[in-house]
Amino acid sequence: MKLQTLSVLLAIAAAHASKINPLHIKRQATSSTATSATVAASSASSSSGTSAVSSSTSGTSTGTATGSTSAVAAPASATWGTSFPPLSQISSGMPSEVTQPVTTTYSPGTSPTYFSGLIPFPLLVLVFNAADWPAQDKLPDTSSSEVQEWMKELDGWDIPDLSPTVDGTCVSDPANVANASARGWWTCGGYTRDTDITVCPGKPMTWGTSFDDGPAFYTTKLLHFLNEQNIKATFFDVGSRCIENPSVLIDEYMSGHEIAVHTWSHPHLTTLTTAEIVAELGWTRKAIKTILGVTPTTMRPPYGDIDDRVRAISLAMGMVPIIWTRTPAGVSFDTFDWEIPGGVVTSEASFTQFEAILGNASTLDDGFIVLEHDLYEQTVDMAIGYTLPAALSHNPPFTLEPIGQCNGIPYTNMYVESNLNTSFPIANGTSDGGIDTDGDGTGDAKSKNGTSSATSSSNGAPLDMFLIQYTPQ
Ligand SMILES: *[C@@H]1O[C@H](CO)[C@@H](O)[C@H](O)[C@H]1NC(C)=O
Ligand SMILES: *[C@@H]1O[C@H](CO)[C@@H](O)[C@H](O)[C@H]1NC(C)=O
Ligand SMILES: *[C@@H]1O[C@H](CO)[C@@H](O)[C@H](O)[C@H]1NC(C)=O
Ligand SMILES: *[C@@H]1O[C@H](CO)[C@@H](O)[C@H](O)[C@H]1NC(C)=O
Ligand SMILES: *[C@@H]1O[C@H](CO)[C@@H](O)[C@H](O)[C@H]1NC(C)=O
Repeated sequence: MKLQTLSVLLAIAAAHASKINPLHIKRQATSSTATSATVAASSASSSSGTSAVSSSTSGTSTGTATGSTSAVAAPASATWGTSFPPLSQISSGMPSEVTQPVTTTYSPGTSPTYFSGLIPFPLLVLVFNAADWPAQDKLPDTSSSEVQEWMKELDGWDIPDLSPTVDGTCVSDPANVANASARGWWTCGGYTRDTDITVCPGKPMTWGTSFDDGPAFYTTKLLHFLNEQNIKATFFDVGSRCIENPSVLIDEYMSGHEIAVHTWSHPHLTTLTTAEIVAELGWTRKAIKTILGVTPTTMRPPYGDIDDRVRAISLAMGMVPIIWTRTPAGVSFDTFDWEIPGGVVTSEASFTQFEAILGNASTLDDGFIVLEHDLYEQTVDMAIGYTLPAALSHNPPFTLEPIGQCNGIPYTNMYVESNLNTSFPIANGTSDGGIDTDGDGTGDAKSKNGTSSATSSSNGAPLDMFLIQYTPQ
């Protein structure tokens, strides 16, 4: 047991030792709505856990094509959203494809139709004034009046007093790694709590499909594909990208995809102070609300970097954490697509990893969640050309659903404004009136009394959600 733990930790350490630096990729933004052509992509994601591609994270990738792909050059007539290069050409040096407009342009005041008329949520107009927002891709200032106001949402909650981790990885932080289980740290050992969404419970062969780090230049290409295939997904959006590409965010939302929070500047949340975490989540929530008129009730921690403190803060702010699936044997469902643009992982190795994910997924009693990205041309081409088609053409085929839907969460629960469900995202969790984030059966974070600002519709009704332990009183 001890040896097993040690070997897992060593594998994790190896994966982290090769952690790439943030990429700075100059983009062609011909017809995109972006206001800036430079994406300071602090993207990337978890590299924790053992992985089929860990041998290629050294930068000398040896990944090989598996032969099961239908990698062919797209015909010249292929339309945007269906064209993709051969697998071997999806690489750091690939030529930039000209970006295309959103699938549909919506006027302010338009409401989505899939709410079945419950409450109309007309789109707002983002009148962008840089002075109203934190600097993009930087930790927002915690002394602002906004952050001070959002801090009040933590009143009445018992946020665990855990010191921030050193850098959110496992190599530089032996003390916190040793305590990873106690603090529920996902990054080092994959520790989850019942409040986390990590699978699609009881739905084998169902892929809770999601994309992180947009809305970005090639998100439109992905949206064309998803809409053509009638696939709905969950988008974990970065606040800095939302204010940069608001019409792409609108396109995601109006196309019926689920919108969730993925922080402002994509940091390792466990490294931050409580106020900094509130700022990261709060500004992203505000960006989405300002553009769409709705406030997400779900979030994903960048790199999957969450512990009981981050969980409690997120839940206190009305957002249920969603990570991605890790099998009991420690296989993390990370495609490592985010390492293709930097040349750290080859597209072939990433696709081999994805095939291993599908193989593992086929054996699970639950549906599964995979880490993929819409930030880069490479990651979008991997999705539309390879991973999504592989899942759809698999025998038997996988069913693709957004993560909320595959968790049985009604679409209206995904946003505060349409959420009439008094037990989502949070209600009384345990007999002592709290939410059990650390799994010990007692409440660690108290339910709200409904006194703070309207980010959660929970009002103390009995919990009817399976995700959170509920002990009837
Ligand atoms: C919540 O309600 C309890 C009991 O009514 C009260 O003691 C507590 O101060 C309240 N907390 C907040 C933050 O309003
Ligand atoms: C380990 O985690 C527990 C639970 O979160 C916490 O109470 C304790 O202070 C931690 N110990 C150390 C040494 O960090
Ligand atoms: C599960 O994933 C592991 C590691 O990526 C891989 O070696 C294994 O072959 C996969 N299992 C199946 C059944 O595909
Ligand atoms: C409330 O939400 C939970 C979890 O999303 C769901 O299971 C339940 O059916 C919802 N209840 C109502 C009345 O919509
Ligand atoms: C928790 O639930 C109990 C009854 O189940 C209720 O009396 C109490 O007010 C609730 N607490 C909060 C904070 O909503």
